[in-house]
Amino acid sequence: MTDSRIHIPVLLDEVIAALSPREGGLYVDGTFGAGGYSRALLQSASCRVIGIDRDPAAIERGRALAQEFPGRLEVIEGRFGDMDRLLADHGVDKVDGVALDVGVSSPQIDEPERGFSFRFDGPLDMRMGRDGPTAADVVNTADEAELADIIYQLGEERMARRVARAIAAARREAPIERTARLADIIRSVVPKGKGDGIDPATRTFQALRIHVNDELGELRRGLSAAESLLAPGGRLAVVSFHSLEDREVKAFLRERSSPPPSPSRHTPVTAVAAHHPSFRLLSRKPVDPSEAEARNNPRARSARLRAAERTEAPAFPASGKEAA
Ligand SMILES: C[S@@+](CC[C@H](N)C(=O)[O-])C[C@H]1O[C@@H](n2cnc3c(N)ncnc32)[C@H](O)[C@@H]1O
Repeated sequence: MTDSRIHIPVLLDEVIAALSPREGGLYVDGTFGAGGYSRALLQSASCRVIGIDRDPAAIERGRALAQEFPGRLEVIEGRFGDMDRLLADHGVDKVDGVALDVGVSSPQIDEPERGFSFRFDGPLDMRMGRDGPTAADVVNTADEAELADIIYQLGEERMARRVARAIAAARREAPIERTARLADIIRSVVPKGKGDGIDPATRTFQALRIHVNDELGELRRGLSAAESLLAPGGRLAVVSFHSLEDREVKAFLRERSSPPPSPSRHTPVTAVAAHHPSFRLLSRKPVDPSEAEARNNPRARSARLRAAERTEAPAFPASGKEAA
């Protein structure tokens, strides 16, 4: 049996092909994780890599990998949404490629103490980094309507109201502090899906994880930060795992790669936002895992890669949606 705590990189060949690393280039691996992408980048060209992860355990693994590639890999603890500022602190303002492989890593999900999984009992934590409220804080303090919104919007759980009501009733008895108790509360009100074998707790756990780590906000900020950092010709490769994330990436790249609207006779020239595309899509369609990869690595099944090349045009002004 393979050790499930070993993280098998998803769409690895496809990501490296999209980044097309070159000799002397500088690449950012914004979701260092177990270092799968960083290692492959370092092996495919004599380039340098800066790995970023908000999880101190990933940074620890990164230090070991850095020793294998002296002077070529640096790992920084922080959020990729801040990557422009993090890199500026290291004297870097332009890079040749940025990879993002969003979501959780196998070591995070399979370590009960991290509190991500409904399959093992552990403290209800779910934070990838060290700071901010835990899932237990959210579950025990958010009001019932807010909980229902989180579960509906970020988990796409149709029975969100029912789950929120059950959580509110259970926490009146005693605070919910363990993953197993939360999973049981959810299972008591959400029936098992017919035929798909999906645990009824899946969608609520996903929602809490995305909320606790502000994953969609991070993604928006990370995409804009990558746009500012990439040199002309630099490549962006983003792997996402569910439709909410993919929607963000698709909308960002569609906006940044579309030609500016042509001014009409009725529109004053000054009112037309003349943004020239800051990205060129590498392919219109996202790249999905091959059948073999999906068979061998269940985590890969829902993965999608979108990739684009930075043009010479200036970065778009911040839309405000990226705000923390
Ligand atoms: C799917 S894993 C990446 C695996 C990696 N590509 C590999 O091959 O080993 C995602 C990693 O990104 C980190 N992460 C997620 N969101 C982050 C963020 N906003 N900033 C920094 N790291 C983040 C997680 O802590 C986790 O270690």
